Amino acid sequence: MTEIYEQIGGPDGMRTAVTVFYNRVTADEELGRWFDGVDLDRLKAHQRAFLAAAFGGPQLFSGRGLRDAHAGLEITDAAFDRIVATLLTSLADLGVPKDAVGAVGERLEGARRDIVTA
Ligand code: HEM
Repeated sequence: MTEIYEQIGGPDGMRTAVTVFYNRVTADEELGRWFDGVDLDRLKAHQRAFLAAAFGGPQLFSGRGLRDAHAGLEITDAAFDRIVATLLTSLADLGVPKDAVGAVGERLEGARRDIVTA
């Protein structure tokens, strides 16, 4: 996925994407239920992990790690859809081409079975 990293504008574009995504997730009423009690540093770590999974980081898809991290959180399909859609919209708004946004969506889809437990 390095081409997406480049399309978004390298490290500067990545920072912008994290900020935009982060602001939207924290402002989202339906996702708030999962993130309300989580402190800022952990929340930021979450956004970075999410983006790493979206853009590269195959180790995040080895299963156990993601499954353990979300066990007991009772995350719903709707919440998973919503957070992925929030990222994809953020990327599209930042000018990432449509096919690249679609590829990110497909990539994240692979994590659903490890994360959704409700
Ligand atoms: C591909 C999608 C996702 C990835 C790559 C991901 C990644 C991670 C990682 C790596 C952690 C562990 C963080 C740590 O221990 O510091 C974590 C924790 C967590 N995730 Fe996710 N996550 C994803 C989707 C979701 C979704 C859909 C939700 C809820 C709607 C969610 C909510 C949480 C919460 C609440 C925690 C615990 C935060 C804490 O207390 O530290 N995650 N996630």
